[in-house]
Amino acid sequence: MASFDYESYITDIPDYPEPGVVFKDITPLFADAEAMRRTVKDIADHFRDAGVTKVVGPEARGFMIGVPVALELGAGFIPARKPGKLPRETYAVSYELEYGTDTLEIHRDAIQPGDRVLIVDDLIATGGTAAATGKLVQDVSGVLVGYACILELTFLEPRKALAAAGDQELYSLVKVQ
Ligand code: PRP
Ligand code: MG
Repeated sequence: MASFDYESYITDIPDYPEPGVVFKDITPLFADAEAMRRTVKDIADHFRDAGVTKVVGPEARGFMIGVPVALELGAGFIPARKPGKLPRETYAVSYELEYGTDTLEIHRDAIQPGDRVLIVDDLIATGGTAAATGKLVQDVSGVLVGYACILELTFLEPRKALAAAGDQELYSLVKVQ
């Protein structure tokens, strides 16, 4: 776990987007230059020696954190996008949400054989989004190095969902019990 007090930059919003849900608002962290710099450096430092050549971030908040982590690692950035947004041939994966399903897509030619891929998102809750992104990375023959996030909601047991998709590491800056 990180030494910086990331949690003080994350605001709990009760009953958003629906009653009973506590939304974790990370926009104050991104609004603070020093907190954002530390976030990006901390994640990049953890994977600095892992030979990462591509960072994949799921739309949309995964773009916010994935792009600067990729820059810090000297890696490229690949977006995993919501359906119909990518112009060339894609692979798609659908995954379960609490109610209904969602889908992410990746360009088929986004990753070259042997690319070492880190998946980065702001929040890992059930792990559904990260596991689906991991499946896409493997569909395009990337070597999945691991997952990183700012916030991990451990009470939703996301590591179980990720373990079902492989044994890659999950690095989180803040764990919410
Ligand atoms: C949020 C968050 C993660 C995902 C985590 O994204 O940014 O991507 O949920 O939840 P999970 O671990 O249960 O899958 P959301 O789908 O709300 O979309 P956004 O990033 O476009 O805001
Ligand atoms: Mg998201």
